[in-house]
Amino acid sequence: MKAPGAAMFIPEDADLAHLRQAACDCHGCDLYRHATQTVFGAGPPDADVVLIGEQPGDQEDVLGEPFVGPAGRLLDRALADVGIDRDAVYVTNAVKHFKFVERGKRRIHKQPGRTEVVACSAWLNAELDLLRPRLVVCLGAIGAQAVLGPSFKVSTRRGEVIDTADFRVIATVHPSSVLRAPDRTAAYEAFVADLRIVREELGKPAAER
Ligand code: URA
Ligand code: SF4
Repeated sequence: MKAPGAAMFIPEDADLAHLRQAACDCHGCDLYRHATQTVFGAGPPDADVVLIGEQPGDQEDVLGEPFVGPAGRLLDRALADVGIDRDAVYVTNAVKHFKFVERGKRRIHKQPGRTEVVACSAWLNAELDLLRPRLVVCLGAIGAQAVLGPSFKVSTRRGEVIDTADFRVIATVHPSSVLRAPDRTAAYEAFVADLRIVREELGKPAAER
């Protein structure tokens, strides 16, 4: 049978807590089969900013929370460096189950395919519909393409403030790409520069937005 996508698992008129609960039982694509658990978004329901990553990593899969592993620690540091309160932002992922290949005892991250991103997009859209954020920050190509379409290129458009009908979007690189970069210091600085644009956008009074 063709994977049905997440839409049929989403309860009507749910709040975020109910959505999170329902997502535990999602079989919208095959990724639930091997992952430990669904990793839903986390953060305050009245957050002005929503951060969208790719998919949970190894540690997130075990702990059930987004961005709590090495990429999350780098993200925390960068947010603190620009003065964005991590506890005030809602953090989620384009895909809510960990996709990996096993190499011996290790589980190696495998990038989700378009089918999985599309299957899981109903959860992301349901989160965004309830949160109605002012600003969406996409971390990496998968998160950005989930919101801005499959032809969006982070490499040429990072740091740009993009208006959509529902919210403004700023895309930047994924924090794990900073961890892998040959020049980590430069990559970190560039990441922080993009987050500074996010900070500025949030600081603007409503009339200028
Ligand atoms: N990478 C992501 O994109 N999301 C997480 O939650 C962790 C690592
Ligand atoms: Fe459902 Fe998304 Fe998990 Fe696929 S990755 S099973 S669509 S929650």
